Amino acid sequence: MENGILKILNFYAGYNVKTILTNINLSIPSNKVISIMGPSGCGKTTLIRCINRMHELQPDANFKGQILLNEKNIFATSPILVRRKIGMVFQKPNPFPTMSIYDNVVSGYILNGIKIPRSEKDRIVEETLRKVYLWDEVMDSLHRKGTFLSGGQQQRLCIARAMAMNPEIILLDEPTSALDPKATAKIEELITKIKKSVTVILVTHNTAQAARVSDFTAFLYLGELVEFGFTEKLFTTPKDKKTEEYLTGKFG
Ligand SMILES: Nc1ncnc2c1ncn2[C@@H]1O[C@H](COP(=O)(O)OP(=O)(O)OP(=O)(O)O)[C@@H](O)[C@H]1O
Ligand SMILES: [Mg+2]
Repeated sequence: MENGILKILNFYAGYNVKTILTNINLSIPSNKVISIMGPSGCGKTTLIRCINRMHELQPDANFKGQILLNEKNIFATSPILVRRKIGMVFQKPNPFPTMSIYDNVVSGYILNGIKIPRSEKDRIVEETLRKVYLWDEVMDSLHRKGTFLSGGQQQRLCIARAMAMNPEIILLDEPTSALDPKATAKIEELITKIKKSVTVILVTHNTAQAARVSDFTAFLYLGELVEFGFTEKLFTTPKDKKTEEYLTGKFG
């Protein structure tokens, strides 16, 4: 995969003297869904927090190696610009509690002081909420607080908030682990749809979810990338014994 949108090269990350990620090399193709699987504590969240330059904000955090977005080193780009191009959604839905649904969607513009005309904002709000299948449910209550919504709706609002900035990549850290099966199914459906306009990196514990939605899957174990490839191939004929053991529920 020479022409990956995101390339992670000889990358290490950790805290203090503790190394969490060891020599990660990964080239991520654009407009696909890429799952990152692995047992608890193997470094999945650390990896995606490195990708949008959040890891380095923590005290004692360290890293070395390169991450290239469209061949450009993200560590030579301003973190704000990196986070605009690489959005993130967390495990627990976290809409801004004081903002309306409408303002949550365009909060990236509001908080970054990016002035856009009202009509343009209206357009972004509607278009983005349609993308995440939320428009029909909230079109009559756009000026109510986002926190009135159900958990699944709140998570779709958070995905909308990230998508509204037109990112190149969206990082989803176990976005459905706090949701029921019905809300989960909706999110999975929208994930497979939004890849037309964005590359999706999905951290998931749920192997069935990875199999359902992702084109490629990476398996991390103890901070090392054990295997990466086409999801179907990795699930049916894993190359590594560790991958096979994980998929058959032997650990994690
Ligand atoms: N601020 C920190 N300081 C020191 N160690 C940390 C810190 N944050 C995370 N770790 C450690 O880094 C390792 C990897 O954590 P990480 O959250 O990346 O794992 P994960 O694969 O996302 O796990 P989970 O599936 O439980 O979310 C763990 O051993 C964790 O204890
Ligand atoms: Mg995690």
